[in-house]
Amino acid sequence: MTQPSVKLSANENCYGCSPLALEAILNNYKQAHVYPEVFAASLKDRLAKEYNVSDKNIVVGAGSVNIIDALIRTFVKEKEEVLTFEKSFVAYAQLAGFHNRKCVFAPLSDFRCVPNNLLPFVTDKTKLIFIANPNNPTGTIITHDELEGLLKNIPSTITVVIDEAYSEYVTDKAFPNSLLLQQTYPNLIILHSFSKIHGLAGLRIGYAIAELSRAQVLNNTQIPFSLNYLSCASAIAALNDKTFVAQSAKANTEQGHYLHTELRKLGLKSIATQANFIYIWFSTDDEKLKIYNLLQENGILICDMKVFGQEKALRITIGDKTTNERIVGVLNG
Ligand SMILES: Cc1ncc(COP(=O)(O)O)c(C=O)c1O
Repeated sequence: MTQPSVKLSANENCYGCSPLALEAILNNYKQAHVYPEVFAASLKDRLAKEYNVSDKNIVVGAGSVNIIDALIRTFVKEKEEVLTFEKSFVAYAQLAGFHNRKCVFAPLSDFRCVPNNLLPFVTDKTKLIFIANPNNPTGTIITHDELEGLLKNIPSTITVVIDEAYSEYVTDKAFPNSLLLQQTYPNLIILHSFSKIHGLAGLRIGYAIAELSRAQVLNNTQIPFSLNYLSCASAIAALNDKTFVAQSAKANTEQGHYLHTELRKLGLKSIATQANFIYIWFSTDDEKLKIYNLLQENGILICDMKVFGQEKALRITIGDKTTNERIVGVLNG
């Protein structure tokens, strides 16, 4: 019997979203004819409580990509530059390109975004640094000490964005306490998303935590009513459901470990992950396509990193137990 196809290409939460978030959507859908809050005050307020900061430190956007766009528009003038890593989240360079800003890439070391690798590329044109932590697509992290080392070694006129879209999945204790670092380094902006562990990718909600003057500059660019009723209500409900987040994270860690171990047993070069996806690299494009096609023929759609300019790599979103066993079954023939 053919099994239904499964999408493992966009790092969504395979367990859906919190039942509380679904309930909030159902309770609010009849408000479709009414305008939402102009600047999502209730969500900002809830996020401020979550992080014990002022609501004036919070910036919200229709997805964190929207905030990435605002960051580039706001902080990088003509002829100034964005700096990030190669093999990282594609939107940084894409959005820099939209705004005609140059994006410079530092190399990874052993699939890790090592902050010291950025230093040789820092010039007086550098205005914004993006670090995805965990990194998409490699799933590796930078540590607290590494982030602090970078902040110590660059001018405070450069804004560093630490993109923690997948932070709730991380188990490594060396992961940065970015809020603490922000107290000493106000040029650090922390970016988060409701699209990953909270399972609300379709409703487009992201947020940033920034020092007051930077938050104000960003908030001044926010388009009124850009977050709708359902987005705000579901995001608030999702924040209230710590059980769903904890269960998703636990299951992901177990399943990530299982999948990584099995892929390694098959001789594939999979990288240990701190996120909800696994990166596999290959020596040749042919070897990669063999795996990609085999999974696709069996209804399992993963991400060929070629679409993001990486010829010899695949990224698989970690599924639930049944899905991961299915992947291993297909690969074992
Ligand atoms: C590192 C990283 N940051 C941000 C995003 C975008 O998230 P959003 O859906 O909130 O725009 C993604 C999405 O894949 C991501 O991988």
